[in-house]
Amino acid sequence: MRTLTSELGEYVGKEVECAGWVDVRRDHGKIIFVDLRDRSGTVQLVFIPNDKETYEKASKLRSEWVIKIKGEVKERPANMVNPNIPTGKIEIPVTSLEILSESEAMPFEVSGDGIEINEEVRMKYRYLDLRRSRLQRNLRNRSKVTKFVRDFFIENGFTEIETPDISKSTPEGARDYLVPSRVYPGKFYALPQSPQQYKQLLMVAGLERYFQFARCFRDEDTRGDRQPEFTQLDLEMSFVAQEDVMAINEEALIKLVETLYPEKKIQEKPFPRITYKEAMEKYKTDRPDVRKDKNDPNLLAFCWVVDFPFFEKTDPSANSGQVSGWTFTHNPFSLPKPEFINDHLAGTNIETILTTQYDIVMNGYEIGGGSIRAYTPELLKATFKTMGFAEERMQKNFGHMLKALAMGAPPHGGIAWGFDRLMMLLQNEPNIREVIAFPKTGDGRDLLMDGPSEVDESQLKELHIKLLEPKK
Ligand code: AMO
Repeated sequence: MRTLTSELGEYVGKEVECAGWVDVRRDHGKIIFVDLRDRSGTVQLVFIPNDKETYEKASKLRSEWVIKIKGEVKERPANMVNPNIPTGKIEIPVTSLEILSESEAMPFEVSGDGIEINEEVRMKYRYLDLRRSRLQRNLRNRSKVTKFVRDFFIENGFTEIETPDISKSTPEGARDYLVPSRVYPGKFYALPQSPQQYKQLLMVAGLERYFQFARCFRDEDTRGDRQPEFTQLDLEMSFVAQEDVMAINEEALIKLVETLYPEKKIQEKPFPRITYKEAMEKYKTDRPDVRKDKNDPNLLAFCWVVDFPFFEKTDPSANSGQVSGWTFTHNPFSLPKPEFINDHLAGTNIETILTTQYDIVMNGYEIGGGSIRAYTPELLKATFKTMGFAEERMQKNFGHMLKALAMGAPPHGGIAWGFDRLMMLLQNEPNIREVIAFPKTGDGRDLLMDGPSEVDESQLKELHIKLLEPKK
């Protein structure tokens, strides 16, 4: 039976079997030391020449070979104790060594934090890059945060529900990724920019409290805090007002930080609120970094940004398809604040209408956003009318939503957290690629699998697609 290195402290004086990777091999005179690494840490192995067969095998070992060993766990002599590692008081003189797998020369070291290594090489060999302890820690903590958040919302009466990835697009302001249909020539699915419409339909369906770790796809320029596919913690609630959604999310974030990241300090509780107008005037941005000490890596300064304008003027040079000159600032499904509903329905004073949108900002990053929704067909139609949509276009694009809202839809609202951004900040990482197992490069490529890639002519034919430019 295999024992993990982290458990070895309990096995002093006993024989154990361990397996893992050769982290480093050091030859000290006649003695060979090997640090064996597994998912829980490392332990020092000792090989002495008396056992000739094992010793000779050990002298061949190279970094990143995979081995299985047997030996008795011994306390180290006092002068050999290493107080810097959890297994620093013990070592295993090896009596049996099996080489399970060899490794070619590594393209880079996996012992350090890897930040200085060229990212293209790190991405190409991501499965090796992920061996480094920093990235292992990021992924393991991401898993812990996922579990914490999942448990929190389930305990609060939410149901975790999956929604489709190939469907029709929800406009979230980015370009869609399209998937051609083989069965319906000339028709396309769109990958979801978010599960916005489905989660609202789940409210119409009477689920009342939904959440999901949802993969979202947006064909937009990649940046440090932006990936073409990313993860949201998406949720929606029925019979709530703006304050209710904000309150439960604030509670979740505070509990999460205080339970899993006790070393971190939340600057201000309850989270301060800033209106969009104040933020723009005081900080010149709608995601202000309100930290009082920007040198403290453990300081988390949350704030809510509220009272966004519902509509903004469209860029006349862009072919936005909004004929009226107005478009939504966040998403079309939001409800104006109660005092602006009359103007909204009448299409008057459009520039003054504020929406129920709330963004949650941490240390200058927008880590989430949501709103209360238009829950009658009239309210949603008023939005499209302001954007200059004719009835026909409303029906074509959003007929299913208008219909659903006409069938007894409860008042509802929700939010989505940018889960990668949250993890980036909690792990003190400089970009979200460091908390995603297999991210895309800055220019949207998957260097490991070599995507995007060309496809066979026969596949294109099956999908009724003819390329304008012949393949090079
Ligand atoms: P929004 O578009 O604001 O809202 O997205 C919610 C949060 O997702 C994160 N985010 C991203 N993270 C990484 N890469 C990206 N390309 C990216 N784009 C967005 C941000 C953002 O705050 N349906 C609405 C939510 C709602 O109203 O309930 C929505 O998607 O942290």
